[in-house]
Amino acid sequence: MTSVLLAVAAAAAIFALYVFREVVVKGKRCTSTARLHGKTVIVTGSNTGIGKVTATELAKRGARVIMACRSRQRGEAAVEEVKRESGSSQVVFMQLDLGSLQSVQSFAETFLKSESRLDILINNAGIYMQGRTDDGLGMMFGVNHIGHFLLTNLLLKRLKACGPSRVVNVSSMAHMFGKIDFDFLNTHKALGLGSSTTQVFKIYSHSKLCNILFTHELAKRLQGTKVTCYSLHPGAINTELARNAPNLLHVLLKPLTLMFFKNPVQGAQTTLHCALQQGIEPLSGRYFSNCTVKNLCAKAKDDAAAKKLWELSETLCGLA
Ligand SMILES: NC(=O)c1ccc[n+]([C@@H]2O[C@H](COP(=O)([O-])OP(=O)(O)OC[C@H]3O[C@@H](n4cnc5c(N)ncnc54)[C@H](OP(=O)(O)O)[C@@H]3O)[C@@H](O)[C@H]2O)c1
Ligand SMILES: *[C@@H]1O[C@H](CO)[C@@H](O)[C@H](O)[C@H]1NC(C)=O
Ligand SMILES: *[C@@H]1O[C@H](CO)[C@@H](O)[C@H](O)[C@H]1NC(C)=O
Repeated sequence: MTSVLLAVAAAAAIFALYVFREVVVKGKRCTSTARLHGKTVIVTGSNTGIGKVTATELAKRGARVIMACRSRQRGEAAVEEVKRESGSSQVVFMQLDLGSLQSVQSFAETFLKSESRLDILINNAGIYMQGRTDDGLGMMFGVNHIGHFLLTNLLLKRLKACGPSRVVNVSSMAHMFGKIDFDFLNTHKALGLGSSTTQVFKIYSHSKLCNILFTHELAKRLQGTKVTCYSLHPGAINTELARNAPNLLHVLLKPLTLMFFKNPVQGAQTTLHCALQQGIEPLSGRYFSNCTVKNLCAKAKDDAAAKKLWELSETLCGLA
């Protein structure tokens, strides 16, 4: 008798979890019907996580998809998967390590030489780990922000020539906990130091605030062109992002992941919305979550900070 009751209770719990996930966690789907035949898109960090789903969805819609990944082995394996799942042969691997300015430069050179168009650039790659890049920048600052900053700037001319075109920056809600200490940044070329769990989270948050400030400043600089840009929070998603976090954190996160985290397909929807939805051009520079434009707190649309960060970034990657 008790075992029957237990089985019923377990079934009810699983059903409740399923309903909860479908109703509350899942979020909106991208409903754009845009087709992308003849268009070229770049997705950075697309060998796994939401980047891979994004690449697959865009390939399904007919785009030529450049998968810009740092590992040739992981990247080429992902290209085969994306080709198989999308049924498209227009999927290409190009090596890009955002932690190396040299690599960003040579990626841009190769891309500009071998491809004729660029319609959508999706700055998706992100890292949650301490360390230094090849150029001696803080790892999360260098990869999540500076690498994409340089990449976007090197490709801007092509984007302008192919307008209407878009830049989509995958940021995070974590930006709300971020702040940018310019004096610290100037002396340490990093957004923070330390490797404790809270320090790493803070530095990640600072880097995600950079993404949003960039989009804010870029939108201004792009006024009068046919290029628009958007930043977004994809949701809390079960991906490899926390792969470098301590084991204890994984154990603690597990039940939360099961309850509250989206799967990568659900997690890619807001990126797809920003890349594809017709008519959002007047919202250039804005921030999206759950496929909806959202208001930002004051520090994430601080004009002076956005301009200062832009200028410092130019200096750090040798564009100034
Ligand atoms: N998961 C979440 O809950 C969540 C929440 C908010 C925002 N985000 C953001 O969503 C984006 C995608 O993350 P995800 O969750 O899909 O994480 P993920 O599964 O860890 O994927 C991240 C991708 O970025 C790539 N990458 C890391 N460092 C790189 C570098 N130096 N050069 C080039 N590529 C690099 C990784 O390549 P390797 O496989 O070679 O490392 C991987 O392909 C990130 O910007 C992240 O900040 C995620
Ligand atoms: C996303 O939007 C839908 C529809 O507006 C809403 O029902 C859902 O609760 C929202 N989800 C989140 C996580 O905000
Ligand atoms: C994001 O935004 C702008 C374009 O919108 C770009 O210049 C900047 O480099 C991007 N930054 C990141 C880190 O994604």
